[in-house]
Amino acid sequence: MKIFVDTADMDAIREANAMGILDGVTTNPSHISKESGAFDDIIRQICDEVPGPVSAEVVATDFDGMMAEARHNAGIADNVVVKIPIIPEGLKAIKACADEGIKTNVTLCFSPNQAYLAAKAGATYISPFIGRLDDIAHDGMDLIQTIRQIYDNYGYETEILGASLRSPKHVVECALAGCDVVTLPPDVLQKMLAHPLTDIGLERFLTDWKAWEAKQADGKVLA
Ligand code: G3P
Repeated sequence: MKIFVDTADMDAIREANAMGILDGVTTNPSHISKESGAFDDIIRQICDEVPGPVSAEVVATDFDGMMAEARHNAGIADNVVVKIPIIPEGLKAIKACADEGIKTNVTLCFSPNQAYLAAKAGATYISPFIGRLDDIAHDGMDLIQTIRQIYDNYGYETEILGASLRSPKHVVECALAGCDVVTLPPDVLQKMLAHPLTDIGLERFLTDWKAWEAKQADGKVLA
């Protein structure tokens, strides 16, 4: 399963990339709104740091506007994937992008039918929003499992990109459900490594090692 980070914060992206396991980045207008500078510069900087797919979202909601932005965003760097919302005009734009060879990440997916139509239109990625469904007492993971089965039944190659993840548990559940990609808030990526028994165990090993070194320095270690 590929790991993307879901942010436009360069410090967080560099930190995640330094871990050596980062496959890509997703951004959205809310992420961009927290950064300073021009949109193109922000996206270009991310693309320079991370060679994998970098999602850059359109904000137009009509077909012509979406296509103009899609072509523009795709031209910012070779690894840009154009993010398009799954609305009627968006569906047309997804198909047109596929015909033009522009990769798409279809966003704001909350139902199996939205995911099915996105795949039929030729989407590169579908982004079901797990956390926002859980927030309204639905089951985000159930959506992922249903999309996985539909795509497998018919051999759709659209990759399932689990989005709106809120915890390391969501990551495990996505992996069990067969997600192709997860996009993670940077803090969730850090939390995936954390375990108190790891910290306690390491502290004990280092304490024992220091005690052994001290004994060795005193000449008390038997050959
Ligand atoms: O970028 C799309 C998605 O991951 C947003 O997540 O936490 O705002 O629901 P969230």
